[in-house]
Order: sequence, then structure tokens, then C-alpha cells
Amino acid sequence: MYKSIAIDGPAGAGKSSISKLLAKKINFHYLDTGAMYRACTYFYLLNNIDVNDEKSINENIDKINLTIENGVFYLNGKDITKEIRSDEVTKNVSLISSYKKIRENLVDMQRNIAKQNNIILDGRDIGSHVLKDASIKFYLTADAEVRANRRLNDDAVSSNLTFEEILEDIKRRDYFDSHREITPLVKADDAILIDSSNLSIDQVIDLMIKHLEKNNVI
Ligand code: CDP
Repeated sequence: MYKSIAIDGPAGAGKSSISKLLAKKINFHYLDTGAMYRACTYFYLLNNIDVNDEKSINENIDKINLTIENGVFYLNGKDITKEIRSDEVTKNVSLISSYKKIRENLVDMQRNIAKQNNIILDGRDIGSHVLKDASIKFYLTADAEVRANRRLNDDAVSSNLTFEEILEDIKRRDYFDSHREITPLVKADDAILIDSSNLSIDQVIDLMIKHLEKNNVI
């Protein structure tokens, strides 16, 4: 029986940087579920499909062939690592990820991947929905200003936005993600809350490892 670690939290809380490093340290696989929603969003933008039109979103969903190899995301065979971090994708991803069919497809994929390895999944609904019986759940958060500042200094993000614009986007996404109808962002009752506002990445990882040991996950 494989072990799974769920890490949820709002935009820019450091989930993906932390998950990546933690996975390496404890020799688990890692799946960035946000990147999957970003990949779908990129597909619709690229093909000029109206992101507000749920019917066309659903009609075109089967044209999306998303594959992941060694953590690299491919859309219909093309590496889209950089494209999915653009401002345009970031602006539209919360809307795309609020659609039922998109979520059902991606959640199926996530559960299938999680079945096959010891794995960390990060996202918004992992502990509350995708892996309700995960071996351990974390809810990682930080003050919005701290998160915006981290995002501003993140080299992986291809953004031309100012600090104020990033902060605005983060607050808008947090609101949208926590208020959508289907599996909104919420802290699962049994998730361990970590506020990283005053913690370094290494401190968060050390804290998580202590919890993993205490709960016999590693
Ligand atoms: O890295 P960042 O915090 O900007 O967000 P992300 O993890 O890349 O996720 C992008 C968006 O995808 C989120 O704002 C959510 O709208 C959506 N998402 C979701 O709905 N469910 C997930 N499990 C992961 C992401």
C-alpha cells in the first residue's frame, strides 16, 4: 500500500517549491495538480476557445492530451513548462478549474497516478476530496503580502506584473477558489495547519518531516 501526502493551501503559499524539495528528501514522487489545471487553461487560450463558455470547454475537452514525464508536463506532445506560468494562464486558471467536467477528468487522473507510487500531491482539494484518506494532510498558508512577495521573486513565474498586481491576483484567486461550487479550497478537518509567513522553506520542510515521522509516514 503506497503512502500519500496531501498539501493544500492558497495561491503562492510555497506548496510546489516545498513539495518538490520534500519529495526529493524523502524519496516520494510529486504531482503538481495546479499545473494540470494550468495546462488545460493554456489549451483553451491557445485555441481561442471562450473561457466563459462552459459548453465549448466541455466539447473540446477530449482534444486535451496531458502527459507527465519526470515532472515535465506535455500538452499534445509539447513541453509546456514555461507557457503554463504566464500571466494570461494565471488570470484564467481559476475559472477553468471551476468547471465540473474539467475537475472530474483531472481528479480521475490524479487518483490513478497516486495509486501507483508513494507520492505528494499539492493543490486546493487534495485533502478534502481527491485523497480523503491520504496518509497525512497539510494545509500550508501565509499572509497574502508575503505570498505576493515570494511570487514576485520566483524565477519560474513568467510575469510582468508589479507587486500590487500580483497581490490583487492572489486575493482574487483565493476568493474565487474558496467560493466556487465544486470542491472549493478548504482546510480539511484533519489537516495540519502550517503558517509559513515567518518560516523559511527549510524550516517548513523540517517541521513537515517531524510530522511525517510522528505519524509513521516515513
Ligand atoms: O502556484 P499557484 O499557487 O499560483 O497555483 P497553482 O497551484 O498552480 O494552481 C492554479 C489554480 O488551479 C488555482 O488558483 C486553482 O484555481 C486551481 N487548482 C484547483 O482548483 N485545484 C487544485 N487541486 C489545484 C489547482
